[in-house]
Parts: sequence; structure tokens; C-alpha cells
Amino acid sequence: MTTPASSKSRHVSHKASLFTESVIREMTREALKHGAVNLSQGFPDFAAPGDIKQVAMKAIADDIKQYAITWGARDFREAIARKTKWYLGLDVDPETELTVTCGSTEGMIAAMMATVDPGEEVVVFEPFYENYAPDAILSDAKPRYVPLRAPDWSFDPDELRAAFNANTKAIIVCNPNNPTGKVFTRAEMEFIAGLCQEFDALDGADRGDARADSDRQLDVQDVFSYRLARRLLHRAAGGNQRDS
Ligand SMILES: Cc1ncc(COP(=O)(O)O)c(C=O)c1O
Repeated sequence: MTTPASSKSRHVSHKASLFTESVIREMTREALKHGAVNLSQGFPDFAAPGDIKQVAMKAIADDIKQYAITWGARDFREAIARKTKWYLGLDVDPETELTVTCGSTEGMIAAMMATVDPGEEVVVFEPFYENYAPDAILSDAKPRYVPLRAPDWSFDPDELRAAFNANTKAIIVCNPNNPTGKVFTRAEMEFIAGLCQEFDALDGADRGDARADSDRQLDVQDVFSYRLARRLLHRAAGGNQRDS
């Protein structure tokens, strides 16, 4: 994997020049070129639900084309708040505690840029989803990598604890983990939550599929995600940080 030549141009910022090509996208192009089976990228092999298609078509027909409010359409945020109450039993205020982003990619970088100051440390489990490296570069965070080891892709609690210090701003917890597929146990989540509390660090939760926590074992993580979201929103609104 090499950095594309164009990123070395004088018109590209130093930060952007540190990025490597997306492994997933490059593998997809290679697979297409060679007619190979592409194991790098997921492809939905089912149609979108009919209801969603109907509503989308109606929105186009109805000329719904103005900008949405910056933090997401109100009825959508209200629906998310209702689901959060039903699914997790948590009350979240759709006006002050929810922001809709364009995918988790935008959510993660927005969270990092809004909370991490240059030189502050962010703990990242390794192997990690490829976006976290550019996220760290863009937000000037110093990543502290902690290995997940086969066969169960768990972490060594001592190693994780050693990665936290007074300069730790956050830990990124991808659960289920991409690329290993590991789902963190309740005990592991509680250990992580304990460190976050002890070091006043945020949990940047990147959760591709919330259904993986069939017994709601991840609710500790959710609490920290909401805490992060609250801080972000409060800061974005020009307020002081608050702990909640
Ligand atoms: C762990 C993880 N985070 C984020 C993303 C990107 O998500 P989105 O398309 O919502 O930006 C992916 C996509 O595969 C992912 O696996």
C-alpha cells in the first residue's frame, strides 16, 4: 500500500499527505481489475425496504429540497429519541442531545475534532478500522495503540490501563470490532468504562450494528456515547463543558 502520488503535490496539505489510500476501496478496485472475489467490502444483497423507497420518492415528488436544520431534521431526531428510549431505556433530548451526521464517518471525525486538542492522546485498539488513522491525523491526536489478540481478540487489562494517563482524552471503541468481528463482553466494557471514569476520558463509540448486544451488554458504552454527544452539542452551542 503506497501513498498516491497526487497526495505528494504541493497543493495538498501536510495532514492530507499523511493519509494512505483506503485499504477497502483499493482492494475493491484490485478485485474488479482481476476478477477476484472481493472480501474487503460489504455489499448489501437485498433490496431497500419498500416503505423507505416510497417515502423517499414522495419526498422528491413533494419538492422537499431545502436545507435540513444543521443538526438533523426534527422529526428524525424525535424518532431516534423514541427508539433510544424503547431500546436502551435512556431519555435523550432530541433538541440538545442528538446530532444526525452523514454516516458514522462524519460522526467520528466531528466528535474527535470537537473534543481533542493537539497532542492529546486517544487510545485505539489494534487492529482498527481504517478511518481512525486519518481521524487522529486530522484532529492532531496522538494515538496510543493497544493490541487485541487472537483467538478471542480481547485486550490485556494491564496493557490497556498503561495506555491511559492524564493526557488521555478518549478511547475509540468499535463494537462489534472491525476488522476482527469481536464483540466486547460486559466485563470488558465495564473495565473500559472504569478507566474512562478514572481518567475523565470520553468513549468514542463506533457501533456498526447495535443489534450485536442482544442482552444490552453495551449499555455502559452507550452512556458514554451520550455523554460525549452532550459535551459536543454543549460546546457547539458555545457553552462550557459539562459532565453529565
Ligand atoms: C467500524 C466502521 N465504522 C464506520 C464505517 C463507515 O460507516 P458510514 O458509512 O456510516 O460512514 C464502517 C463501514 O464499514 C465501519 O465498519
